[in-house]
Formats: sequence, structure tokens, C-alpha cells
Amino acid sequence: MRKLLNAIVMVFGAGVLAAVVLLALAWWKTGRDLARTYSVADLPLSIRRDPGTLLQGAHIYATRGCVDCHGGDGGGKLVFDAGPVIRVVGPNITPAGVAKGMSADQLAAVIRHGVKPDGHPLVFMPSGDFQALGDADTAALVAYVQAMRPVSHDPGKTRIRPLGYVLYLFGRFPLIPAARIDHAPRARTAPEPAPTPAYGRYLAQACTGCHGPGLAGQHVPGTPPSFPTAQDLTPGNLAAWTQDDFRRALRTGKRPDGSTIDPFMPWRNFAQMNDVEIAALWAYLRSLPAFPPHSAR
Ligand code: HEC
Ligand code: HEC
Repeated sequence: MRKLLNAIVMVFGAGVLAAVVLLALAWWKTGRDLARTYSVADLPLSIRRDPGTLLQGAHIYATRGCVDCHGGDGGGKLVFDAGPVIRVVGPNITPAGVAKGMSADQLAAVIRHGVKPDGHPLVFMPSGDFQALGDADTAALVAYVQAMRPVSHDPGKTRIRPLGYVLYLFGRFPLIPAARIDHAPRARTAPEPAPTPAYGRYLAQACTGCHGPGLAGQHVPGTPPSFPTAQDLTPGNLAAWTQDDFRRALRTGKRPDGSTIDPFMPWRNFAQMNDVEIAALWAYLRSLPAFPPHSAR
């Protein structure tokens, strides 16, 4: 009896020890990767602050996802709390918040490179989705952010939790987008706004963070298992949809069968896209190779 008890204590102890070592290793690796610095040397943007440019910036802010995580007034908000994995909070980016004192080019480096003014990388913000944002669009977006009314609101901080560190250690949680972005300086020119696959591809970058790099669908990284999976957007899944169905889905959150798309899919913001943008997205989605259904993979 005594021997059995000893054995149980030993096995239990070894398990606890292994868990502690794993956690320490995961915590160390994340800390090390966050302590790296990156240098961004894009050419300075030419910033204009005329009403037309600010309107364009507001449109980009509303339709590319910024509003989802930083709020309509830029004051920041809790994006989601995935319990043991991560708590994601979009900070206050008005001139009274974390962006206080940042130059236009520093803001652009945050957005397109995921790199803060001190060279350290952001943790969660999906800068990979914005890395190819054109110079003129970026300049307009930055001018808009800098022109926001200062809001004194502190939404708190993003925190990686223990399981988040462990998932990151095993390459199962794509934190630190700066580590996967090409930081070589280059000019970025957006395609002509027209209902073409090229312009749609440019806009669809805002969809890849959730729907996956090839838009073939995935469970959105870091979100709790109870969150809906972002579906395959290739003709593999949307074969029966028409462009009208797609426009209605983005504008009203309704699928062709009348069911409602979960509001975690930010269709309320995409609803503000204009007809050319929606047509371009559709042309691009239609041009993608059909992905086999999840069940057949
Ligand atoms: C999915 C959520 C999400 C989206 C979309 C998003 N952000 Fe963020 N953003 C964050 C989080 C979280 C942080 C801070 C924590 C981190 O990731 O390091 C942040 C940080 C920032 C910062 C401050 C960086 C610093 O130095 O502290 C700025 C400025 C910013 N975002 C602007 C934008 C703009 C502009 C857009 C749209 C192009 C955008 N964000 C889209 C989540 C998001
Ligand atoms: C913040 C994450 C997120 C972003 C960004 C996002 N989606 Fe989604 N999307 C989802 C989720 C999650 C679902 C599944 C919702 C549900 O099951 O009710 C979804 C569902 C959809 C659907 C319905 C598909 C179906 O089979 O019913 C369409 C269409 C769609 N998204 C298009 C887009 C497009 C186009 C973009 C970019 C402009 C985009 N999404 C960006 C998360 C996102």
C-alpha cells in the first residue's frame, strides 16, 4: 500500500515538474522573441490632411478592421478574452492614448510592419493583413488616426496567458506578426480601384487574418473553441453564391439561405464598402482555385 502511494506521488510529482518546465520554456521563448528589435526603413510618407484624404482614411479605418479592435472613436476596447490562451485588447490609439507623440511614419510602421517606435514587435495586432497597404492609403489612414479627437479611455492591456505561451512554443499560435513580415524598404502602390481580381486581392488582405492565408477557412487563431470557424471563401464553399448573395451577406449579414452570419465576422464594417470594392472582392474570390470541402481534406 505504502509503495503504491509512493509511486502515485512520484508520477504526480513528475507530471507537475514537466508542466512547470514546459511553461518556463514557453515563457522564456515568447519573452526572447518579444525582446527582439526590428528596423523599418520605408521612405517617408507624404501626408496630406485635406478633407478628401481624411474621408479616405476614415473609410479605410472602418472597412479594414481597425474599428473592430480599436473602436469607432479609437478609444480602444476588449476584442476577446480566450481564458487560458490570451486576452486581446485594442489600445486607445487617439492622440491621448498609446499613439501619443508618434510620427506619421512611426504609425505606418506599427500598421504595416507590426513594429513599435522603439523597434519592439507588437504581440497580436494582425499587421500581416496590412503589410501591403499602399503608400497613399496608408498616408490617408495615418492622417485620419492623427486627426482623431483625443479620448481619455484606458481599455487595459493585451495579455498572453499560460496556454498561449505553450501554443506559441509549439508554433500553433501566430503571435508577433513582425517575425513573418518582409521589412525591406519598398514603395507600395495600390491597384486601380476597379471591379477587378487585382483590386479585390488587395482588399482581401483584410480577410486573411481570420479566413487564412489562402482564404480557404480556419478556426481564427487565438479565439476560444466556442467561436465560429471562418469558412472557406473559395468557390469550393461559395460555389452556389452569386455576386448579389455576396453583397447581401456583407451588407446585411444574411446568407442566401436566410441564416445570420455571426457578428464576430465584422460584416457591419464591411457593409460600408462601396459597390466597386464589393465587386472587386467577389471577382477575386471567384478567381481562386476551389478548395476541397473541409470534410474531404
Ligand atoms: C484584431 C485586432 C486588431 C486590428 C484589426 C487592428 N489592431 Fe491595432 N492593435 C491591436 C492590439 C491588440 C494592439 C496592442 C497589442 C499588441 O498587439 O501588441 C494594437 C496596437 C495598435 C497601435 C499602437 C501600437 C503601440 O505602439 O502600442 C496602433 C497605432 C494601432 N494598433 C493601429 C491600428 C490601425 C490603424 C489598424 C487598422 C489598419 C489596426 N490597428 C488594426 C489590435 C488590432
Ligand atoms: C475577425 C475575423 C474575420 C474577418 C476579418 C473576416 N471574416 Fe468573414 N467570417 C468570419 C467568421 C468567424 C465567419 C463565420 C461566421 C458564422 O459561422 O456565422 C465568417 C463568415 C464569412 C462569410 C460567410 C461564409 C459562409 O459560408 O457562410 C463570408 C462570405 C465572409 N466571412 C466573407 C469575408 C470577407 C470578404 C472578409 C474580408 C473583407 C472577411 N470575411 C473578413 C470571420 C472574419
